[in-house]
Amino acid sequence: MDAASLKEKVGQAAAAEVETGMRLGIGTGSTAEAFVRALAVRVGEGLRIVGVPTSERTAALCRDLGVPLATLEEVPELDLTVDGADELDSRLRLVKGGGGALLREKIVAAASARMLVIADASKRVESLGAFPLPIEVNGFGIVASLIAIEKAGSLLGLTGCLALRKIGESPFVTDGGHLIVDASFGRIPDPEALSAALHAIPGVVEHGLFLGLASAALLAGPDGIEHVAP
Ligand code: A5P
Repeated sequence: MDAASLKEKVGQAAAAEVETGMRLGIGTGSTAEAFVRALAVRVGEGLRIVGVPTSERTAALCRDLGVPLATLEEVPELDLTVDGADELDSRLRLVKGGGGALLREKIVAAASARMLVIADASKRVESLGAFPLPIEVNGFGIVASLIAIEKAGSLLGLTGCLALRKIGESPFVTDGGHLIVDASFGRIPDPEALSAALHAIPGVVEHGLFLGLASAALLAGPDGIEHVAP
């Protein structure tokens, strides 16, 4: 089965878990979009939900497909967030932010009673870090922040290149107006320590390590959907 079909399958499986009356966080990325398409079918059949999107891109798709939306200000407590991931380990620690939406994704996941991760099984890793860690930074003092990130990594034995994410020649700008640094640290043996070190840097707005947020995962592979709990 190709990657797109796996995403469709896992999107449908997640949509089947949604119950009427739920307040949903709706993730960002190609797998989350497969979920939105499956959710829209259920909404068309009469499922009543309200969704809080984690990006302008997801909001636009939901509006196109008729999925009812609210802002997190209007609905500040959510029942369930469904979102993709770039990597997940056996403890359901995640790397997210490949699509650049990590800040809103983390705010929405933290406002949710449960977070369901959806992915194809290739996203499961022994150890986080093969996927470069996205770090959202304020544009002010970007060079100072890059130096501080490099030092924080090296104090933890992590070295590797830091790259400012770009679209063509221009910096990628997040929905919140910030920049993204992709940190190719390689294997991250202690994600909690790295998270704390990054949070201590004033110019770092947020990072893509999602620790203690995911409640369960649905992983699509050639043999079907696997339910994973930490
Ligand atoms: C968006 O910022 C990301 O966190 C995505 O959830 C993640 O990159 C997974 O995207 P795909 O489902 O497209 O692989």
